[in-house]
Amino acid sequence: MTDTAGVGALPAQGMPAADVLGEIRALRDADRPTHGGRLFAYVYDPGVAGLDELAQAAYAQSAHVNGLDPTAFPSLLAMENALVGAAARLLGGGPGTGAPDVVGSVTSGGTESLLLAVKAARDARPDLTEPRIVAPASAHAAFAKAAHYLRVALDTVPVDPVTLRPDVAAVAAAIRPETVLVVASAPSYAHGVVDPVAEIAAVAEAAGVRCHVDACFGGWALPWLRRLGAPVPPFDFAVPGVTSISVDLHKYAYAPKGVSVLLHRDPALRAPQFFAYADWPGYTMVNPVIASTRSGGPIAAAYATLRHLGEDGYLRLAAATRDAVAGLADAIRAADGLRLMAEPETTVVCFTSDDPGLDLFVLVDELTARGWHTQPQLTYADLPASVHLTVTAAVAPRVAEFGPALAEAVAAARAAGPVVLPPELLALAGSLTPEALTPDLVAGLAGGLGLAADAGAPERMAVVNTLLDAAPARLRERLLAEFVGLLQRPAW
Ligand SMILES: Cc1ncc(COP(=O)(O)O)c(C=O)c1O
Repeated sequence: MTDTAGVGALPAQGMPAADVLGEIRALRDADRPTHGGRLFAYVYDPGVAGLDELAQAAYAQSAHVNGLDPTAFPSLLAMENALVGAAARLLGGGPGTGAPDVVGSVTSGGTESLLLAVKAARDARPDLTEPRIVAPASAHAAFAKAAHYLRVALDTVPVDPVTLRPDVAAVAAAIRPETVLVVASAPSYAHGVVDPVAEIAAVAEAAGVRCHVDACFGGWALPWLRRLGAPVPPFDFAVPGVTSISVDLHKYAYAPKGVSVLLHRDPALRAPQFFAYADWPGYTMVNPVIASTRSGGPIAAAYATLRHLGEDGYLRLAAATRDAVAGLADAIRAADGLRLMAEPETTVVCFTSDDPGLDLFVLVDELTARGWHTQPQLTYADLPASVHLTVTAAVAPRVAEFGPALAEAVAAARAAGPVVLPPELLALAGSLTPEALTPDLVAGLAGGLGLAADAGAPERMAVVNTLLDAAPARLRERLLAEFVGLLQRPAW
């Protein structure tokens, strides 16, 4: 393996293409496996032979095309409109008489779609000096980011620890005269449950407020699962009062990263999403989305993916995913000391443990050691720590191997016993204020926990997760922000 860690990108003499690609391959060796159905977060793998090559070829054809000006590059406009049309049709939009006149934009991802949904809602109410949004506590963190970036107040509504959904009366009560947007998830990322969208949209509509359905995660999976007979509740434009929906094509549409669609029920609702500026000597800037220059690569790759898989392909992949979810849930039920956070109703399996002898964070490490990469979720409010599995079609052929690996990992985690932090560290996590954290303190703490800034994460993360779990949310944020700051250092 070529040692490229710590080397700047610009050599004095240019390198042969094969060597450069070799370097990237060597760097990629340290990554989690993006294919093979053993990574339950970050990636969405359909396991379809030839799809990567198709998407790469399509990406390459349009990589240098610029979405800045749709009149200069009509190819990109045509593909964007095709993606928006496909998403709108799947989610209760037109064409046809009586169907809403849905319009949309292609963005770079779920976070951008949500930022723009909040911006559109905020800018539709220029009369308000202190706009607010209402979101269940289970809504994606990108709404908090949108609120922060756009100076909109975020009113969160707690979720029930059993149903993992917000109480609709509490959502209604949280709506104020300054509320510009009410949010529902279909489904939530953490637990994969679909909020009561029809009821939430109804209370929003009654208050004259927009309602955004965040279907970034599941918007491209739920319609196929429904067609396969799953009892998916109404969540799309068929629901009166739903004014916008986001759906990420780089999730369950299995497109390479960098593509999401933000839909609005009609063009007037979308209008305040745009930014136009003519008051400078250069070209008049008109941006439907946040980025100005945009590569055509992700859009062309998504277009090729949808055209190649087609409705029959997505139905097949949804069936495989549904079966994988059922198999994984059975494995959790059969495991000693684990319980599902919720009966899986979408493409997430999420479990926890009530057994003090079984440390979930140790279990996650034991699964990693066996080649299964799951995602730990920290304690939040009255919800226990849990383990999240995003399930994609590529998992289906591996499900039978998961149960035995899980049983082994559970036994190993029990044998190892729970993490016991030194009392002084626990006390520190409980008492340290975010303001008291300095980069030096974090570097010392990270070093003590085996997190060397130049070596990435250690194999075993249970101690780190236990420490974070003991810390309040604000301190977790600061600790991780400081730590990522240590990671992001120029390589000379
Ligand atoms: C429900 C939901 N909304 C929004 C996002 C943010 O998407 P992205 O990571 O593409 O910005 C995610 C990502 O997992 C999600 O699950």
